[in-house]
Amino acid sequence: MDRKTEVGLIREIVGLKDQKSAFLDREVTHSPISRYASPERFEREMAMIFRRKPVVAAHSSELEGQNAFIARDFLGLPLLLTRDADGEVHAFLNVCRHRGAKVEREATGCKRVFTCPYHAWSWSNRGDLRAVPQEAQGFPDLPRAERGLRRLPVAEAHGFVWIIANPDAGEMPEIDDWLSDLAPDFAWLGLNEHRIALIDTLDINANWKVLIEGGLEAYHFRVAHKKTIGSHFPDNLFTYKQFGPHMRAVLPRNAMPELGGTPEEQWILRKDANMVYTVLPNTQMLVQQDHFMWFHIEPVSEAKTRFRMATVVPNDAPRTDDMEKHWQLNHRISLTALKEDFELGEEIQAGFASRGNPTHIFGRFEGALNRFNLVIEEMLGH
Ligand code: FES
Ligand SMILES: [Fe+2]
Repeated sequence: MDRKTEVGLIREIVGLKDQKSAFLDREVTHSPISRYASPERFEREMAMIFRRKPVVAAHSSELEGQNAFIARDFLGLPLLLTRDADGEVHAFLNVCRHRGAKVEREATGCKRVFTCPYHAWSWSNRGDLRAVPQEAQGFPDLPRAERGLRRLPVAEAHGFVWIIANPDAGEMPEIDDWLSDLAPDFAWLGLNEHRIALIDTLDINANWKVLIEGGLEAYHFRVAHKKTIGSHFPDNLFTYKQFGPHMRAVLPRNAMPELGGTPEEQWILRKDANMVYTVLPNTQMLVQQDHFMWFHIEPVSEAKTRFRMATVVPNDAPRTDDMEKHWQLNHRISLTALKEDFELGEEIQAGFASRGNPTHIFGRFEGALNRFNLVIEEMLGH
């Protein structure tokens, strides 16, 4: 992000405060609840979005060092991510090419060779078939090149491992193209130079979009978070801008609207505001002063979402006990506030069954929710 953009974003907040106005879209809009509560709709989202678009599968620091691997089920696929001896990342289906057993049972570790627990076929961490016991007798003329682990398109960029969760998908697009002009922001934030300090996994009984929507407005802050973080933020002040399908939002803390009387040279966005980046379809980053929270969103069904919440910190932050305590405290505060959102999200989801509410209504200062939903509709071809 250049300085002009940074100052512009702050000026926008100061201006809204001067006008005593929230950031307003033109219209009130409506969102049918079928978007959040229908299994057919969910299947379509899986097929058209989660199996077709680049999704973040892991943070790079989860796959740290040569020959590291992660084996996890993700978006309904048994996934094996590896980093080879040259540091390059690969993504495979964790499925044996003999008779389909799960090749790697450990969740993480460090391996050059993966050996299937059933008949001991083995593959290198670059995916090529290395050994087949009793091959000459049992599998004469085995076309080894055709029996590599099934690959998924993969790329590593901005500190994340991106995949297309479909072995039949074509090429991975350039991630910076996919990010539509968010790449300069991510370079400015130095996302490449971060590591996960703490991570929690939560299984939530709510649609994935309900959870994302909770991060796209500040209307609820003073109400839903009144006992926790609400008082640190001015009431209902939140701006956003779309970048292709993605979004950057600015969530000012109390000091920012008051910067009007101070010299612009002293304005620092990250000092007095959080930023929320929503990278479709499954990643949100809440950028705070000295670290960011990463929300890794994995839809499980129309009413269930696996949510990984990580405190991601700069590699060059001191690795002292004091700093670890600082990250732990921040992590706990964020988790407490998020649990307030998730409790609401689960109640909203449970309420869909009543059919009492055919649509939700988004106010003019909840425009980001409508924009987010319109992007999804467009991806679904509606
Ligand atoms: S199923 Fe894996 S080696 Fe036979
Ligand atoms: Fe919230």
